[in-house]
Formats: sequence, structure tokens, C-alpha cells
Amino acid sequence: MGKTAIVTGGTRGIGAAISKALKDAGYTVAANYAGNDEAAAAFKQETGIAVYKWSVADYDSCAEGIAKVEADLGPVDVLVNNAGITRDGMFHKMTPQQWQEVINTNLSGLFNMTRPLWEGMRERGFGRVINISSINGQKGQMGQVNYSAAKAGDIGFTKALAQEGSRKGITVNAICPGYIATEMVKAVPEEVLNKSILPLIPVGRLGEPEEIARCVVFLASEDSGFITGSTLSANGGQYMA
Ligand code: CAA
Repeated sequence: MGKTAIVTGGTRGIGAAISKALKDAGYTVAANYAGNDEAAAAFKQETGIAVYKWSVADYDSCAEGIAKVEADLGPVDVLVNNAGITRDGMFHKMTPQQWQEVINTNLSGLFNMTRPLWEGMRERGFGRVINISSINGQKGQMGQVNYSAAKAGDIGFTKALAQEGSRKGITVNAICPGYIATEMVKAVPEEVLNKSILPLIPVGRLGEPEEIARCVVFLASEDSGFITGSTLSANGGQYMA
């Protein structure tokens, strides 16, 4: 029987590429999104992938949303925790709101999505949880104390939960993308991108969302059962952890 996957933040950016790649690999995909109805409708129209709206920052919304996906598509075998936001700013100017919003989505979102799915994966003896962390969770990034803290937290979450899942056929892995050509990176001031970021990427370019999506398909497959608790860097050589 075909497998079912949820991709959070799955209608735009890296998430959209992941949703499409999983569909192409034979999965039934539910693409979650939080706010942009227009982009989600266009994505659904273009791909035929089902879209579901809720915020990963809220536990009850996740539990409800997941129940709806499972009622529509069946038990979820693969969870890709991709949804993420930035609220960049130097720490001396960072507000409690900028801190909280990023932690709630980028870190607590992993708990909120994984916890309601975990018992089912344990019962069925199979699961794949793939967390999209970031190069900036590995190395830290000025202007991103909130984001770097959350993304580093994602790696700790991955390593601890991988140990719990290992005897139940569930793998938990993290992918750390570098700077990928998405709206999030295009929002970085052009001067900063050209002067302070691009020159540090040995491959000499931004990554493409599809390059991250291929990592997800690899980790999601049944053949990847011996890979768990790992952190896969895909950053053009910018940081070698
Ligand atoms: N790397 C290196 N230096 C950086 C930098 C970065 N990512 N971001 C800012 N700087 C440098 C600037 O070049 C500038 O240096 P100079 O004083 O020599 O010109 C200095 O820091 C101050 O920057 P600003 O003048 O822009 O200061 P600001 O207060 O107006 O803005 C900021 C600060 C909001 C952090 C802005 O610089 C910014 O948005 N920077 C980008 C931060 C960043 O890298 N975000 C990543 C977004 S993509 C992402 O998060 C996806 C992922 O996982 C990789």
C-alpha cells in the first residue's frame, strides 16, 4: 500500500518542492500551510496535492488538523517538519514577540506536530520524521539569535527522539539546508546577501529547493531504516559540521 506524508509549510518554498518530490515518489501527500490561502490554492491547482490550513505553533490546531488528514488520507507514515519563519534583527533590538513567534513555530512546532502522530507510528511499527533545521542552527548567525536557537533545538529534538523511536521502526533525522533560493532568503537585504553571504558559499550559488527535497525523499524511504538521529547538511560547503 502507498504511504502517506504530511509536509508542514508544504505549499511554498522548500516545502512545496518537498511535497511535489514526495508525490512524484508515490506518496499520498497532505501539504499544510498557515496563512497564505492564495499561494495554497495555486499550489493545489498546479499539483493536485491536498492542502490543509492550520498553524504548527498551536498544539490543538495540529491535533485537529492531523485528525482530519488521517480521516481523509489514512494513517500518516512520514512527517516532514518544514514550516519555519524568520523575524531577523540584531539581539539588542529583538523584541519578546520576535523571540516567541520564532520559537513557537520553528521549535515548538516540532512537538505540536510529532506528538499527535507518534503513538500511531509506534503502534504500526513504522515512521519517518524529518525535521528541516538550518545551517544557522549549526553555526549560529548574527541577526538570528531566535532562529538559531530554535533550529539548534530542532537538532537536539531529533537526536533525543531518534533514540526513543529506534526500537519501533521510526527514524528521526534532521536536514540542515544552507541558503536556498526561496522567498525567505530573497527577503535578506541584497547588500547583505551579496557582501556577507554569497562569498562564503564555496559552491558559489544559492541552493535550489529541489536539492533539499531529494534529501527528504532519501530519508523517507524504507531503505533508510539504519539512518536515524543524523544531521544531513546541504549547504554548498558553507559550513562543515
Ligand atoms: N552574515 C554576515 N554579516 C551579516 C549578516 C549575515 N547573514 N547579516 C548582517 N550582517 C552584517 C551586515 O553586512 C552589516 O555589516 P556592515 O556593518 O559591515 O555593513 C552588519 O551586519 C549590520 O547589518 P545591517 O546594516 O543590515 O543592520 P540592520 O540592523 O539594519 O539589520 C538584520 C540587521 C535584520 C539582521 C539584517 O542585516 C539582515 O536581515 N541580515 C540577514 C540575516 C540572515 O542571514 N538571515 C538569514 C535569513 S535566510 C534563513 O534564515 C534561511 C536559513 O535557514 C539559512
